Amino acid sequence: MNFASRMSRVTVSPTLKVAAEADRLRRQGVDVVDLGAGEPDFGTPKHVKDAAHAALDANFTKYTPSAGVLELRDAVCQRYRLDYDVAIKPEEVIITAGAKQALYNSAMVLFEEGDEVITHGPYWPSIVDQIKLADATPVIVHTHMDDGFKIHASAVIDAITPRTKAIIINSPCNPTGALISEDDMIAIADAAAARGIWIVADVTYEKLIYDVASHNIIGILFERMRDKTVICSAASKAYAMTGWRCGWAVGPKDVIAQCNVLQGHSTSNINSITQKAGIAALTGPQDDVATMLNEYRKRRDLVHAWLTADPRFVCVKPGGAFYLFPYIADLLSPSGIKSSGEFAEALLKEVSVAVTPGEGFDSPGYFRLSYATSIERLKEGVNRIQRFVATLEKAGTISGQPIRN
Ligand SMILES: Cc1ncc(COP(=O)(O)O)c(C=O)c1O
Repeated sequence: MNFASRMSRVTVSPTLKVAAEADRLRRQGVDVVDLGAGEPDFGTPKHVKDAAHAALDANFTKYTPSAGVLELRDAVCQRYRLDYDVAIKPEEVIITAGAKQALYNSAMVLFEEGDEVITHGPYWPSIVDQIKLADATPVIVHTHMDDGFKIHASAVIDAITPRTKAIIINSPCNPTGALISEDDMIAIADAAAARGIWIVADVTYEKLIYDVASHNIIGILFERMRDKTVICSAASKAYAMTGWRCGWAVGPKDVIAQCNVLQGHSTSNINSITQKAGIAALTGPQDDVATMLNEYRKRRDLVHAWLTADPRFVCVKPGGAFYLFPYIADLLSPSGIKSSGEFAEALLKEVSVAVTPGEGFDSPGYFRLSYATSIERLKEGVNRIQRFVATLEKAGTISGQPIRN
């Protein structure tokens, strides 16, 4: 078929591929333990749903300004003032269909052919595919398990060339859960500011940080290079609102105006009812956020302990988001399974557990496990994974001993 050439540069999201196969099996009646999904298992908080019901009852069902209603843009300003002590005006905010559209708008407005855009890997695939869709070239700075997938400012700065247009930082990171340190953020911001390079910060998991850590990267970027910073985030993960599609980009008003032009010619405003729900989420009580965070922390600790009881699952305990990213090369090569893609396929086929293979995050040898599901299902999932590994052992394909030292 004669499709536009840009489409040959991107692929189907691997997370959606796993979800589709898991869904197919589930429809056949298979009891699938889904550890692939990147979304909270909790219901949306009641006061948020009540706001949506009220919006419907009041027939708040018409077009709104494409950038979102003023009250919601104000709510983002208010939330960020409380959380990060930064002063933002509504004209510096656009409401988008999730953080994904905030990032997409930024890519389309800022990047073009000939530009290089630096980001860090393992990465969430849409970040890189959006750079390609904008005709720019992604430059990946690799982070490593051995030091907890730390984003080193020096590595990012070393990747800068005269063609670098922007640096995209995702913290907490999907899939590694790593947080950038404030010192690294300061060093990158200073290097970028000195060269007129944009920083796009994807802080979609900003509310999911488990250990006491000062992580005011928004404050740092605003203080040092506000005129070249775009922050992208959403209500999706923090308020268990993935399906509502409520996100935002915060940046200089000219950039936000350009995003609004783009959005005005594509999707227009996000759902009007969702906007009322978003206001309730951002301005209402935040207790549910804390409750969910505590539960995720408990799950992270449990699953990490269960999995790493077998030393062939080498796994960092992440500081944020809701994923573990174990390294399983010790299981792969000796078992005849050649890749984590094959491992994930076999896991789904043999013991009906869905995980996302590392290849999707540019990280063969790893898989991503989401712990955004109940402890009971997580236990069942880990039991099945262990059972699957034991069958590989029994078949004589792998030894019970780790190969790594
Ligand atoms: C790192 C990262 N950024 C952005 C998004 C998009 O979030 P949303 O559902 O709000 O569009 C996701 C979703 O999984 C993500 O993991």
